[in-house]
Amino acid sequence: MVAARRQNNNNKQKMEPKHHKTKKTDKKHEKPAAVIPEKEFETERRKKKGSGGFREKYGAGVDKYYTDHGDTYTNPHETALLEVIAQCIDSWMPKRYPTLAGIKVLDLACGSGEASLAFQSRGVESVVGCDPYTYKAFEDRTHLPVRKDTFMEIALGSMGDCKYDIIVCSYALHLAPVSTMSALCVSLAMISKYLLIVSPHKFPLMKESYGWDLQEELVEKRIHCRLFVSTLLK
Ligand SMILES: C[S@@+](CC[C@H](N)C(=O)[O-])C[C@H]1O[C@@H](n2cnc3c(N)ncnc32)[C@H](O)[C@@H]1O
Repeated sequence: MVAARRQNNNNKQKMEPKHHKTKKTDKKHEKPAAVIPEKEFETERRKKKGSGGFREKYGAGVDKYYTDHGDTYTNPHETALLEVIAQCIDSWMPKRYPTLAGIKVLDLACGSGEASLAFQSRGVESVVGCDPYTYKAFEDRTHLPVRKDTFMEIALGSMGDCKYDIIVCSYALHLAPVSTMSALCVSLAMISKYLLIVSPHKFPLMKESYGWDLQEELVEKRIHCRLFVSTLLK
């Protein structure tokens, strides 16, 4: 009887699947990345990879970081950034604006004026900055006019009366809270013909409902640039 039980147990052991590890790994793939909703996907990405190398700095929150460091902000990638934005302007703008001198540009989340300087270098005279945290650094460096609207305020319509030809947002739009993105982008699409998003990665993802249609795209020196045209502004 005992011998028979042992024999049974031995058989059982032999028949046990030896793939516990595979099973665990399979769990990871229960939800393929392709079907993760965009909102969740972006939140995940922020958790895992941070935002363009600033992960540690943003530990206590983006707003806190820029409240503390806004006056002294500079972009460590500025040289490459200026070159790549200038390249976009040279490639994409002449067929849209034969002369750039008369166009109006808003540098949204302007930092200390990195993107503004690129537009100025191509002859744009009317550039306005906008940043609730770095406006002083922007003013000190560029001597250009500057607004202080936050992403949230813009989403709520604070720029309602303004009109621009191009809004450039460099290394910043992915920092807007996901819950604000839709209203923010729609507000921007009602005040500007073009939106140039410059980013160290492919984020933020833009949806059709945001009011912007992708026209041009370029990745150079690991800097992603996308030019959108407004579908809301006639
Ligand atoms: C990485 S910096 C980019 C600055 C500059 N555009 C550049 O290319 O270097 C992000 C910018 O987003 C701004 N910012 C952060 N949170 C913001 C918010 N809630 N509303 C508006 N701007 C914000 C910061 O003040 C900062 O200037």
